Amino acid sequence: MTNWTELDQNVRTWIHEAGERIRQSFKTELNIKTKSNRNDLVTDMDEATERYFTENIRTHYPDHQILGEEGYGDDFKELSGITWIIDPIDGTMNFVHQQRNFAISIGIYDGDEGELGYIYDVVHDELYFANKGKGVYMNDVKLPKLDPVPVEDAIVALNALWVTKNKRIDSSILAPLVQDVRGTRSYGSAAMELAYVASGRLDAYLTMRLAPWDFAAGKIMIEELGGVVTDLDGNPLNPLNKSSVFVGKPGLHETILTDYLHRNK
Ligand code: IPD
Ligand code: CA
Ligand code: CA
Ligand code: CA
Repeated sequence: MTNWTELDQNVRTWIHEAGERIRQSFKTELNIKTKSNRNDLVTDMDEATERYFTENIRTHYPDHQILGEEGYGDDFKELSGITWIIDPIDGTMNFVHQQRNFAISIGIYDGDEGELGYIYDVVHDELYFANKGKGVYMNDVKLPKLDPVPVEDAIVALNALWVTKNKRIDSSILAPLVQDVRGTRSYGSAAMELAYVASGRLDAYLTMRLAPWDFAAGKIMIEELGGVVTDLDGNPLNPLNKSSVFVGKPGLHETILTDYLHRNK
């Protein structure tokens, strides 16, 4: 049997230690490499942070499985037993260029049920924490359930590239939404954007393609607060698959789906 209270204490200790190491790294020179293209950055801190978590998890929980962006986790195809889904630094481009607007993201699943979600804004020392069935906290403050909001009062996070010509979505679909909402934002860290929907700083967030480690923790958080988490077609997300992601407050999510995204379907 898993002792969830002890596990939660361990995760918090590791997240705060990893955060401290990342803050200390601001004083040193980063080793920056590129992955799939020249804007897809990874640093030695991304790798060291993921290694730090995987080593601790393997020592304390040798039978748990780990999925991590930088590849220090395990190779598996199914959610069974306890699975840790880790993004050591979400928003690496911000980490490199801005030294802010990035987060550590950890989602912990028991079978296919999300149990615990952690998103740690390292620079602001803000830990967003979801415990399935027991609520969501930002540090010590319990976050309220999400209430509906009309489109014209909504702040929606999206990437400006999606309203230009691109290969994933017809730009004419999103332009009316951008015109109708109160404002749009783009922070460049999916995990932070999900935490911001959970905490009411944003009302919705849509994006064309995320990996499991980008949304694993945020999904648990938003669902716990009564928000809606789907792909851009309104289908549920599989925590092991890459997919588009669309999250929002109840009501607002449905309105955006039917009146904008599926307007011509
Ligand atoms: C990226 C960020 C970004 C999102 C990208 C992700 P990374 O994660 O979450 O906001 O638009 O799709 O890959 O690489 O910085 O961990
Ligand atoms: Ca990356
Ligand atoms: Ca990421
Ligand atoms: Ca990352």
